[in-house]
Amino acid sequence: MTRPTLTTSAGAPIADNQNSLSAGPRGPLLMQDYQLIEKLAHQNRERIPERAVHAKGWGAYGTLTVTNPEIAKYTRAKVLQPGATTDLLLRFSTVAGELGAADAERDVRGFAIKFYTPEGNWDLVGNNTPVFFIRDPYKFPDFIHTQKRHPKTNMRSPTAMWDFWSLSPESLHQITTLFSDRGLPTDVRHINGYGSHTFSFINDANERFWVKFHFKTLQGHRHWTNAEAAEVVGRTRESTQEDLFNAIEKGDYPKWLMQVQIMPEEDAGKHWYNPFDLTKVWPHADYPPIDVGVLELNRNPENYFAEVEQAAFAPKNIVPGIGFSPDKMLQARIFSYADAHRYRIGTHYEHLPVNAPKCPVHHYHKDGAMNFFGQVTGAQNAYYEPNSFNGAAQDDRFAEPPLKISGDADRFNHRDGNDDHRQPRALFELFDEGQRQRLFLNLAEAMWGVPQEIIERQLGHFTKVHPDYGAGVRSALETMTREKASETAQQQKMPQGVEAAE
Ligand code: HEM
Repeated sequence: MTRPTLTTSAGAPIADNQNSLSAGPRGPLLMQDYQLIEKLAHQNRERIPERAVHAKGWGAYGTLTVTNPEIAKYTRAKVLQPGATTDLLLRFSTVAGELGAADAERDVRGFAIKFYTPEGNWDLVGNNTPVFFIRDPYKFPDFIHTQKRHPKTNMRSPTAMWDFWSLSPESLHQITTLFSDRGLPTDVRHINGYGSHTFSFINDANERFWVKFHFKTLQGHRHWTNAEAAEVVGRTRESTQEDLFNAIEKGDYPKWLMQVQIMPEEDAGKHWYNPFDLTKVWPHADYPPIDVGVLELNRNPENYFAEVEQAAFAPKNIVPGIGFSPDKMLQARIFSYADAHRYRIGTHYEHLPVNAPKCPVHHYHKDGAMNFFGQVTGAQNAYYEPNSFNGAAQDDRFAEPPLKISGDADRFNHRDGNDDHRQPRALFELFDEGQRQRLFLNLAEAMWGVPQEIIERQLGHFTKVHPDYGAGVRSALETMTREKASETAQQQKMPQGVEAAE
């Protein structure tokens, strides 16, 4: 088999890729060796900034196939019409760890889907949990700072985490999930995905419904205990990448059942909970999940960097028939992601193959770094809008019905009128004795070493959720204290030099 000739990035054939050009066998080198300079210069530019959150991730391609014709009553989105099959990219991730972090860590898992629909890309950038830690975006950067490294020690700080959480009791629902079995899944084939926020559906009659998206794993749920995960991390730091990649490579394609909960627009004010509050679920008894279809992952990317690291998911990416809701967290995310991508990847990140829509694109954004798409206005002389030269123009058939909102603009206290205990209590009451004991132990391990004042504040919140919750975590902490004390006493009793001799 003949091999292709190695070239420079400008296409010139390279005669020698092993020996630099030097004035004599011992050097020095000649500046003229532009091939060497090109090679070193490219190496210096091989990294882009990692994502500020969700840096460690695993991705695969697949399809969504819609099976339930009932969904068409609620949305005109082509991607959700009966029988539609749409290509997609799904990137899973952990939140706090850096690009090189171990996979088997207790953390929320990201579940970000890019649907390449005939009406543009629809990105549903969700998690494996139906709720989140906070409900006001003002708190997001501070929350993330507590999950990342301390500025001086450069270590993760349980004190910062529990200080923030104990001062933000709206986090109780998500904390109860994170420290339960589901907080440490064995891999990402065995997790659910959730759009988490409330979004809207708009149908052919231009009626709006509120909607929540769910993806239920058809592989079942699997988790590790902290001890099991520690053992896994000792063996491999890439347990999730190995599991997902190998399953797809051998044709064992993971699948999820897509479901929606639908709320009529006028129901939004009828409940004790705010349906746009990201720390709350909609009880299934109020809004039963309706099947939509099946999501399957069936193809590994050819190049991880190009197709997963450079993938850019943004909640701003919606399509006709799917819209936003007043949820303040969602509103902030509509801004934040595209801003992050322009910085992390570059101005024209949406024209990279993995991010490019698979439908015609027409816009008047002009020039800028890496404009390799030329003019996409639809006509040569149309490089501004409005114009008389048949350039792409707006189409009011895609207008959404007006959002009915009235009231004063103010900084409303997000705590007012909120019950942050009721839903975590319902979750806690679902746990059997084994699940409760593991929850207590996981929390005690995570809180170990945190100042007592902060621990007491957090135990107060757990007790308000359920007296058994507070008592269980307190008891697990006391057991740990006794165990640690006896370990220390054992070590002190050891004759000097034993450790060294061993
Ligand atoms: C105000 C709240 C939030 C802000 C400002 C925010 C911001 C960000 C930013 C800047 C990134 C990195 C994007 C990139 O560099 O490509 C990111 C990633 C991500 N966020 Fe958020 N986030 C918020 C809340 C949430 C919530 C509530 C969820 C889930 C329901 C979520 C899920 C994700 C996921 C899955 C990723 C990784 C996407 C990927 O795989 O590339 N975030 N977030």
